[in-house]
Amino acid sequence: MTGSPDIKLSVRGLEKSYDRTPILERVELDVESGSFCTIVGASGCGKSTFLRMLLSQELPTRGEILLDGHALPDEPTPDRGIVFQKYSVFSHLTVSENLILASELERAPFAGRLFGVKRRQAREEISELLQRIGLSAAADKYPAQLSGGMQQRLAIAQALAKKPSILLLDEPFGALDPGIRLDMHELLLGLWNELGMTIFMVTHDIHEAFKLGTRLLVFDKIRHDPQVPEAYGATITYDLPLATPLTELTQGPEQIASAIGLPGQSDKTNTMTS
Ligand SMILES: Nc1ncnc2c1ncn2[C@@H]1O[C@H](COP(=O)(O)OP(=O)(O)OP(=O)(O)O)[C@@H](O)[C@H]1O
Ligand SMILES: [Mg+2]
Repeated sequence: MTGSPDIKLSVRGLEKSYDRTPILERVELDVESGSFCTIVGASGCGKSTFLRMLLSQELPTRGEILLDGHALPDEPTPDRGIVFQKYSVFSHLTVSENLILASELERAPFAGRLFGVKRRQAREEISELLQRIGLSAAADKYPAQLSGGMQQRLAIAQALAKKPSILLLDEPFGALDPGIRLDMHELLLGLWNELGMTIFMVTHDIHEAFKLGTRLLVFDKIRHDPQVPEAYGATITYDLPLATPLTELTQGPEQIASAIGLPGQSDKTNTMTS
């Protein structure tokens, strides 16, 4: 499958250890271009570590990750954008200045700043992006003047300003109220349809995972040593296609949540049924 034009990302024999403690082991994966992979798993099992490796913020201990059939670059590149749970923009820059900076860093990594025609073009693109993400009215505000939902919109816009073909989302809506989260789902699905990105999104909300994803990846340990709990790492234990009318799921969100010990799934504030 590796090298096939439809495969955006392949993971082969991936392992990650910190100080000889295995976190992830035997991870194998082929993801088609345009997939929306949702990732769930118990706290501490290595989901964020996995995303950080997809971004090249961390290097695998063993194994390889192929992007478009080629080894992943050793450093983050503009074609992979990331959004974290807590938003990560510059507090001393306004909304549009944050986005211009993201776009300048992409286009002129050495010169640092854009001039003339290119700068005007960047401004136009950013104004379109603000419109699309519903932040036009807040263009001149500083991050501290925005609500939590608006801050996450800005974080998403910042990741999109670099025009990534892969978008990595690490519990991006975990800190938001349920109503705002539903708005964010619509926004994200709209952007995904429009821009055709391949998305990997970690969530603790199994309903959110089922609702948004075309594919659900569950990370868990398959080997346990009760004497030495940290002896083995986690791997992908379920890999389910989602959201096709022909898909017959043998297990629903609740069964999967309880199998992997996800907390709070009966808690209304953490449940996204729609
Ligand atoms: N830089 C690091 N150095 C040492 N250990 C680390 C480092 N980063 C993560 N770990 C360990 O790796 C394990 C996996 O961490 P990770 O953040 O990937 O988990 P997670 O699945 O994202 O958890 P959560 O759901 O709580 O966000 C944890 O035991 C963590 O302590
Ligand atoms: Mg995490």
